[in-house]
Amino acid sequence: VKHVLNARQFNKKELAILFKRADEMREAVHSPHKRRTLTELHKGRVMATLFYEPSTRTRLSFETAAQRLGMSLASTENARESSSNAKGESLTDTIKTVANYVDVIVLRHPQMGIAGQAAAVSRAPVINAGDGGKEHPTQMLLDLYTIQQKLGRLHNLNIGIGFDPKHSRVLRSLLTGLSHYSNNKVTVVAPKEGQLSQKELQVFRNKGLTLTTETYPEALLDCELVYVNRFQVERLTDHSLMEKYRSIYKLTAKQVQNSRIKYILDCLPRVGELEPGVDELPQATYFEQAENGLYVRMALLDSLLS
Ligand code: NCD
Repeated sequence: VKHVLNARQFNKKELAILFKRADEMREAVHSPHKRRTLTELHKGRVMATLFYEPSTRTRLSFETAAQRLGMSLASTENARESSSNAKGESLTDTIKTVANYVDVIVLRHPQMGIAGQAAAVSRAPVINAGDGGKEHPTQMLLDLYTIQQKLGRLHNLNIGIGFDPKHSRVLRSLLTGLSHYSNNKVTVVAPKEGQLSQKELQVFRNKGLTLTTETYPEALLDCELVYVNRFQVERLTDHSLMEKYRSIYKLTAKQVQNSRIKYILDCLPRVGELEPGVDELPQATYFEQAENGLYVRMALLDSLLS
């Protein structure tokens, strides 16, 4: 059984194949004829979504991806309260059970590394849709796909990221994804408390990334592409500095207009890190990025189940 557990498991070749398939999925979704034949691809298969943390894009794009491929769903959008978890059942017992009902399981959970434990007991492929602050590999897939689509390459990049890399599984998986390609420079902007540890920075440097750390958001303005993510309040232990951080760590429309930034990505939800006025600028790419989640997840499901 092939599981999707982390960003490092994908190599460049696999990524290129997946992105090509995502292009085909995009085209098919927008063609009235092909759209119908898509639903023949995985008819009769069932996907379960087990979400123990809130989600809008990840769950709904997975569910619509599955449905567009002809699959049906077994879904718990609030597994923490509506599954037997509330009675004290362990996640591994839940997975062992659900794996006998469905062909693939998409799991989001607040505990770091739990997707691996789930995969170990599952006879169906497990897709990690976020495990605590650790990994979010399918977000990495759609992020790289979007960067490739916009800039036409995934190497020689000058990227800026912010603002809470320490707690952001999205930024962590993105850095891993970027490290598969050569000559990528990343400026990592965060308050000291939200910055990656020296140890983690070293791990990414050893993988080939050129990393610079900065404490001011203005450091992003010289980057070709900027990727921001909100402060992960649910993973912070000290909330007292939150208001101060929110007032400093954001980009305004005016800053973006006068910058060298070509594209701005945000995995969303956006909670203040980008002023709403930024949406009107040509750099704003985040809703398109979220749309790409559908095509990339269709491609991923198709490859796992074929
Ligand atoms: C992110 C997540 O859940 O990690 N959202 C997403 O999947 N697009 C980011 C976040 O919640 O900040």
